[in-house]
Amino acid sequence: MENKAKPNGTAQLTYNGKTVDLPVYSGELGPDVMDIRALYKETGMFTYDPGFTSTGSCESQITYIDGDEGTLLYRGYPIDQLAEKSNFIEVCYLLLHGELPSAKDFEEFDWTIRRHSMLHDQFDQFFRGFRRDAHPMAIMVGTVGALSAFYHDSTDINDPVARTVASHRMIAKMPTIAARAFKYAIGQPFITPRNELDYASNFLRMCFAVPAEDYKDNPVLAKAMDKIFILHADHEQNASTSTVRLAGSSGANPFACIAAGIASLWGPAHGGANEAALTMLQEIGSVDRIPEFVARAKDKSDPFRLMGFGHRVYKNYDPRAKVMRETCHQVLDELDVRDEPLLQVAMELERIALEDEYFVEKKLYPNIDFYSGITLKAMGFPTEMFTVLFALARTVGWIAQWSEMIEDPSQKIGRPRQLFTGAQSRDYVDLSAR
Ligand code: SDX
Repeated sequence: MENKAKPNGTAQLTYNGKTVDLPVYSGELGPDVMDIRALYKETGMFTYDPGFTSTGSCESQITYIDGDEGTLLYRGYPIDQLAEKSNFIEVCYLLLHGELPSAKDFEEFDWTIRRHSMLHDQFDQFFRGFRRDAHPMAIMVGTVGALSAFYHDSTDINDPVARTVASHRMIAKMPTIAARAFKYAIGQPFITPRNELDYASNFLRMCFAVPAEDYKDNPVLAKAMDKIFILHADHEQNASTSTVRLAGSSGANPFACIAAGIASLWGPAHGGANEAALTMLQEIGSVDRIPEFVARAKDKSDPFRLMGFGHRVYKNYDPRAKVMRETCHQVLDELDVRDEPLLQVAMELERIALEDEYFVEKKLYPNIDFYSGITLKAMGFPTEMFTVLFALARTVGWIAQWSEMIEDPSQKIGRPRQLFTGAQSRDYVDLSAR
């Protein structure tokens, strides 16, 4: 990766009679940045930014979000255009390589991914160690981490060829692992991937086919699944991507870094929100109970939040939520469950929230997780599988960001500092004297 930050003057920081100049850089889009790398050396002070609300951790050329405009670009292409006109494998190529593929490049890439979908024969034994009621995300963290015990020919992170092979293996095998986590939870036999099927169709077949009868592919649901994967593929330096970058900055095994990202994504404030949003809609249950829950979301003494609403960056409607809502209606129409009560509750909750001055003032709009749960439930996935599907799709984003970090000439091992407010140095006190 070539660093392309453009010097744009300096900012001055004056404290205790001392002034330091901090270089300012401009990117291609978005806010300028103040380079504080010399701050500690120049001033003996750290910056302080819990949650990194105002801190850029890296230079990146992959994904750009304009939270005020509600736009999302993958390598410059708007998410709504990609969802409408592209497919997930082409988006994987775009995120990894920076450009849309030629017909020949696409065919080669697609063929490679299809040919890496199988797992090592011994791998299936890992699933057997879990209780049947294990959360599928627990299974994903464990089994994806276990991939680091295989494929030793593609873990030399300093070898570009090994990085490419590890990237292809991760993208190709995640659906097979995710489908196995689902099958194991419901006590059905694992289904082997089929290379003649496209990525989304192959995944749905591995999830819903049973050996007792022929499986009938549904192109409408496969297209919806593919679109859902596109919407979830990458999203700048979110919590799980930052986790993968930080793990990778120490030179760790790439599969282990992805397992760390899965662990972070699991949280209900992040990728776990789709599961939490559906659980919330089920708890609300009917339109007439919505005001009670909206009041709770506004009550500072109540920890309840409207899951699927709000975002650290989007202070406008999440552009993915618009596409997700359209996809939700398409799936419910295809499955003839248009009058799904949860959809009625979701649409009325969205209408009320978008008019409520608390949500308007705090710029809390539905995010991608608000409609994804209803869609995935209608497709036959249990709630616990929702974040697994998010992890499946986000794997390419994690891999692209990890590769960019490895190739960034300015990258160093991540090691934040702190504001220490604990005990000062003191002598040990023997037990007899306590
Ligand atoms: C994802 O980062 C990414 O890009 C993530 C993601 C991706 O693709 O990787 O987009 C995926 O994680 C989407 C977000 C999914 N999470 C949820 O839907 C969970 C519910 N949302 C919230 O927990 C919250 O909105 C966050 C975590 C998403 C964002 O929180 P922030 O930016 O830290 O904002 P905040 O918690 O400081 O909230 C600002 C104010 C607070 O009130 P005040 O302290 O100012 O009085 O808004 C309130 C919050 O109380 N608020 C909410 C709310 N979200 C924020 N109030 C009610 N319901 C909510 N959902």
